[in-house]
Amino acid sequence: MAPSRRVSYGAVPMGIDHTGSRVLVTGASSGIGMGLAEEFARRGAVLAVSGRDGDRLAASAETCRAHGATVHELIADLGDNDSVDRLAADALSALGGVDILVNNAGIPKRRHTRELDAATVDSVMQVNFLGPTRLTLALLPQMIERGGGRVVNVSSVAATLSSPGESAYDASKAALSVFSEAMAIDLWDDGVKVLVVYPGVVDTPLFTQPDNDPFTAPVEFITVGELVRDTFDALDRDALEVYIPAYFKDIVTGKANNVEGFVAGTAEYMRQQAAGSA
Ligand SMILES: NC(=O)c1ccc[n+]([C@@H]2O[C@H](COP(=O)([O-])OP(=O)(O)OC[C@H]3O[C@@H](n4cnc5c(N)ncnc54)[C@H](OP(=O)(O)O)[C@@H]3O)[C@@H](O)[C@H]2O)c1
Repeated sequence: MAPSRRVSYGAVPMGIDHTGSRVLVTGASSGIGMGLAEEFARRGAVLAVSGRDGDRLAASAETCRAHGATVHELIADLGDNDSVDRLAADALSALGGVDILVNNAGIPKRRHTRELDAATVDSVMQVNFLGPTRLTLALLPQMIERGGGRVVNVSSVAATLSSPGESAYDASKAALSVFSEAMAIDLWDDGVKVLVVYPGVVDTPLFTQPDNDPFTAPVEFITVGELVRDTFDALDRDALEVYIPAYFKDIVTGKANNVEGFVAGTAEYMRQQAAGSA
């Protein structure tokens, strides 16, 4: 299915002002992270944006600065624990503290389980789960000490719908989601709020990353703008989770009520797809 390349988006409701909020957004050099960073900038935040690609990060930072924001560019690789530790230290030093951490950086891994190897599972878990949780643990103490903070973790509907053909990715996002919920309970009285974002299929460069099987799911793409709008709506409501689009929550509920039926039905669908394309 060809994605609709709608890159611009209409006005996002003004929503809650973030003037003075110190925000770290990972994966801000592209796609969803770039959109979230720009919206924080529009709402007055002071930003640290992070990624591996310095040129793309600089371009994203410029977009944020066009809204008058102060933006620090921090190169980091979530696949490397030393780099994650440096990112936490650099963000604290640049911003003087982090009020909102957005763990958005992540990699896809569309790879059938038959073709999957342990090293690939390790690397996906590192970037999508171990790196973000390491960063979170490094930044939580100063939030707890201040009695306030927020962690926004960008998961995926794949975490709860166990998308076929990407079991390693699904598992990495499921781990991030469950960690987030348990953390929300543990920190309930510490003033640290948690939001888990469950995007469906968003039109970003994620689908053209190399070393992935082709994306074939018959799901309508939404724009980054729609994702940003609904994420900020969830932030404004102090929601714990948000599915974007919202109908995915109904599918998740249906699955929870009949896991056997969901798995068998999906397997049958995949069999028919394979037969149709043979
Ligand atoms: N697009 C979707 O349909 C969709 C659906 C569900 C969930 N998500 C999740 O949304 C998040 C953002 O994805 P996206 O769609 O915006 O994809 P994207 O356009 O490919 O952006 C991914 C971002 O993550 C960064 N990143 C990747 N590997 C990294 C690493 N090892 N260390 C540090 N940064 C790294 C990339 O920056 P550099 O390349 O500069 O490092 C980039 O800024 C991901 O966690 C993804 O799993 C996306």
